[in-house]
Amino acid sequence: MVSKLRALVAYLTYSGNTQEVARLIEGQLRYRGIETGMHRIGIDPPVNPSNYDIVFIGLFTWEKGSTPDEVKEFVLEIGYKPDNVAVFGTGDTQFGGDDLFCKAVDKLAKFYESNWSGLKIEQSPRGSQEQKVKDWLEGVLQHVESYA
Ligand SMILES: Cc1cc2nc3c(=O)[nH]c(=O)nc-3n(C[C@H](O)[C@H](O)[C@H](O)COP(=O)(O)O)c2cc1C
Repeated sequence: MVSKLRALVAYLTYSGNTQEVARLIEGQLRYRGIETGMHRIGIDPPVNPSNYDIVFIGLFTWEKGSTPDEVKEFVLEIGYKPDNVAVFGTGDTQFGGDDLFCKAVDKLAKFYESNWSGLKIEQSPRGSQEQKVKDWLEGVLQHVESYA
C-alpha cells in the first residue's frame, strides 16, 4: 500500500494575508488527497516537523525587511533544520520597494537551504495571484512526490 503524503502548513499572520495564502495551499493539498496539518505560529502547541513529508512555513515581512519574532521563536522551537521546508510569504512593495519586498521569505528559505525558491505574494493572494500560488505549489509537489 502506498502511504499518503503528509504536509504541514505553519504560518504567522497579523492582518490575514498570509493566512489566505496558507488556506489556498491547504485547499490544494487536500484536493490532492494529501493529509494536511495546519499550525498557527505563536498560537498552537508545538509541532514535530519530522512527522511530515513536506513542511510549508508562511510568514510576512516586518520592519525594514525583518523576520517577525514569532517566526524566529518557531525556528528555535523546532530546534533542527528539516530538509523539506518550503517557504511562502506576503509583503508589500510600498515598504522599501523590491529590495525589501518579502525579504523574510528569502532569509528563511536560505536558512533552511530550501529546495525551492520562496513564494512571494503582494498583500492578499485573491485574484490574479491565486494562480501564482497554485503554480508554485505544483512545482514543490512534483519534487516531493518524486522522493516521498
Ligand atoms: C510596520 C510594517 C512594516 C512592514 N515592512 C515590510 C517590509 O519591509 N517588506 C515587505 O515586503 N512588507 C512589509 N510590510 C507589509 C506586510 O508584510 C504585509 O502587509 C503582509 O501582507 C502582512 O501579512 P499578514 O496580513 O499575514 O499579517 C510591513 C508592514 C508593516 C505594518
